[in-house]
Amino acid sequence: MDWISFYDFKHSVIYVNARHRDVHYRTIAEDIRKLVPSPDASVLDYGCGEATSANLLAAACGQLTMVEAAPNVRAALIARHAGDARIAVLTPEQAAALPEASFDMIVLHSVAQYLTGAELDGLLATFRRLLKPSGTFVLGDIIPPRLAAPFAALALLRFGAANGFFWAAVGGLIRILLSDYFTLKKTHGLSHYEEAAMLEKLRRAGFAPERAARNIGHNQRRMTFLSKRA
Ligand SMILES: C[S@@+](CC[C@H](N)C(=O)[O-])C[C@H]1O[C@@H](n2cnc3c(N)ncnc32)[C@H](O)[C@@H]1O
Repeated sequence: MDWISFYDFKHSVIYVNARHRDVHYRTIAEDIRKLVPSPDASVLDYGCGEATSANLLAAACGQLTMVEAAPNVRAALIARHAGDARIAVLTPEQAAALPEASFDMIVLHSVAQYLTGAELDGLLATFRRLLKPSGTFVLGDIIPPRLAAPFAALALLRFGAANGFFWAAVGGLIRILLSDYFTLKKTHGLSHYEEAAMLEKLRRAGFAPERAARNIGHNQRRMTFLSKRA
């Protein structure tokens, strides 16, 4: 098993229940909406996951392209948005083959931790090519090293308490402990970055980055970076 197949399960253990999943996706869609540069913007959400609030984001831009590597998750997205001309759902390969300067905004949220440094470099090169010269690249949920798991658990409990799923979050944390998550973490690893290391990585990839004041989503220990093409 790898991270893509971990996320391809019908009911990913990462969401403690349907309410958690939906509040999670609504929260990130609302945060990402605020970053859309104009109502006619062309936006790419790469590694969008189940994206149950994609309509919220699509309503704030001209065209939303969602890319998901996990085949079952992608099939569900295609079925949900069939016939909606504002939304396209693509494979990573289809996205990489798009013409250059296709997007005003590209979002990679909560995906970089599952990629090796070299894999992320490859994606950054693709994104730089796909981004319009005036466009913005949004890199969210970057996890600093040290104490990531306890902070993530605490943030989930707080998120649960604020949104009516505290006890489900407690149960969910226990289920995650017993799941493939920690085995995968050992075998495939999770990538962590200090702020300075990520700024440097983005600069080397041809971006002019800055750290955003807030992270997208509920975990404010993690970081979001906003970049223009350098
Ligand atoms: C935590 S989910 C993030 C979903 C959504 N962006 C969010 O913030 O909730 C991680 C996503 O990364 C994707 N992913 C993991 N490894 C990947 C890889 N090697 N290439 C492309 N996508 C990958 C998974 O398919 C999954 O959708």
